[in-house]
Amino acid sequence: MESDGSSIQLGKARAIGVSNFSSKKLGDLLQVASVPPAVLQVECHPVWQQPELHAFCESKEIHITGYSPLGSPGTGTVKKEVLKHPVLNMVAEKLGKSPAQVALRWGLQMGHSVLPKSTNEERIKQNFDVFDWSIPEDLFAKFSEIELERLIRGSGFIHETFGAYRTLEELWDGEI
Ligand code: A2P
Repeated sequence: MESDGSSIQLGKARAIGVSNFSSKKLGDLLQVASVPPAVLQVECHPVWQQPELHAFCESKEIHITGYSPLGSPGTGTVKKEVLKHPVLNMVAEKLGKSPAQVALRWGLQMGHSVLPKSTNEERIKQNFDVFDWSIPEDLFAKFSEIELERLIRGSGFIHETFGAYRTLEELWDGEI
């Protein structure tokens, strides 16, 4: 099987994306990659905003796409309820939008794309209705008051004795 680089050279792929890379891992990859990744997919929502990663990706012209943009409510894996955050609800109330719409619009205004998942027709329609309005600057600034917390921590990828990463610090290169 050829490497990703030669898939591009052979015309089998147009671009390469990577996921869950820290700034350090992305930097390490860029040192050796013949084809730099076009996209990085990471956890991103108002409670885990990744400002340093945004700045780094912008400087390298790598697009960020956010998974769990609503904080994956109802999945049981994420304990904190992003959609119930008071800042999100205050902004939603002021703009007459739902907290989910505000979370998605915040992501777009941060410059990344968002990948919300829904199995419900009404909510899918609601989640698309985020393109013809915006969060004004004064309300957008309120998001910087949110205490940040990585919610999808990847504990399953660490083992104190075996495995590539022994701690969460190591797994995320301190971005935790
Ligand atoms: P449902 O499929 O019943 O709509 P994420 O995209 O952050 O992983 O979150 C996915 C979860 O968010 C799903 O459980 C989904 O439930 C729920 N969800 C999707 N859209 C909305 C919305 N507009 N309001 C509230 N919950 C939503």
